[in-house]
Amino acid sequence: MSLYALIKSNGPSGFGYRSTAEDVTAGVSLAGKRILVTGCNSGLGFETMRVLAQRGAHVVGTARTTGKARDAAMRIRESAEGIACELSDPASIRACVAALKAEGVPLDAMVCNAGIMALPKLEQAFGYELQFFTNHIGHFMLVTGLTDLLAEDGRVVMLSSAAHRMAPKEGIQFDNLSGEKGYKAGMAYGQSKLANLLFAKELARRFAGSERTANAVHPGVIATNLMRHIPVPRPILAGIMGLLSAVAFKTVPQGAATQCYAAANPQAAALNGQYLADCNIAPARPDAEDAALAARLWDVSEQIVAKLP
Ligand SMILES: NC(=O)c1ccc[n+]([C@@H]2O[C@H](COP(=O)([O-])OP(=O)(O)OC[C@H]3O[C@@H](n4cnc5c(N)ncnc54)[C@H](OP(=O)(O)O)[C@@H]3O)[C@@H](O)[C@H]2O)c1
Repeated sequence: MSLYALIKSNGPSGFGYRSTAEDVTAGVSLAGKRILVTGCNSGLGFETMRVLAQRGAHVVGTARTTGKARDAAMRIRESAEGIACELSDPASIRACVAALKAEGVPLDAMVCNAGIMALPKLEQAFGYELQFFTNHIGHFMLVTGLTDLLAEDGRVVMLSSAAHRMAPKEGIQFDNLSGEKGYKAGMAYGQSKLANLLFAKELARRFAGSERTANAVHPGVIATNLMRHIPVPRPILAGIMGLLSAVAFKTVPQGAATQCYAAANPQAAALNGQYLADCNIAPARPDAEDAALAARLWDVSEQIVAKLP
């Protein structure tokens, strides 16, 4: 446990910085529940799949390829299955949606966890900056494609990040979604994570009056493969990470706690449209509350998806 974790106290939920995914689901039976987790083969996604399955859920884990998803599902002993969902490939997302719809079994939660961070150079998919496309558009397609399958009290959990604060000052650069008018790695990641947050907020507005919920989470700072694009040689990065982990980083079980809390803890059924960190409601950037911005992002995302091959 890091030094920082030792001095942090729990919040009103009874959980906090130190809580692990197992802590926040202790005593919760997820028997009979079916939960989708994207990015199940690595980091927080694998831990989320492992712990939700341990509590009795049947977890549908997605990864870029069928092989990666199935390997991850096989690494846990409990009930899990793996299915391909490459979030930068609309055909793969559509196939994933179609396969789950064909099975017709309701989803009790969707944990939209997969993501990429801080690509050093501009990369694109279908003309859109790749972090915006993968982290936001890919999940937008997946969640809107599967909403019919979401249980009446189903929960959507979007992985945002404290890095949403690094988004451009105007929020979303609608006139630069290609990245071609200027690209900064951190800002582009921040924009994609603000988009995840705005999507959760807009979804929550659309769920109002039902028992469905949508929330966004910041998991903490955890040394995972997410850091792979940081332009420092791997051995040096590993050394820095090791040092920082002892002082300040969360462990992977701690990092997966907030998304497991939002997806599975009974307390969280009462939360809708919230931004959570350390398993408690947390303040987000002021424009995360901008309903017009969130509605515009939804409309633009629909237009983008409609034109994809
Ligand atoms: N770690 C942190 O400090 C931190 C902080 C704030 C927010 N987050 C968020 O937490 C989430 C999980 O991150 P992590 O730390 O667990 O990172 P990670 O270990 O790198 O896991 C990311 C997962 O996303 C998958 N993925 C990436 N691109 C994809 C694509 N195009 N299609 C489908 N899957 C894709 C990865 O698959 P491959 O293994 O095949 O690449 C992997 O399974 C991310 O959304 C991240 O933004 C993390």
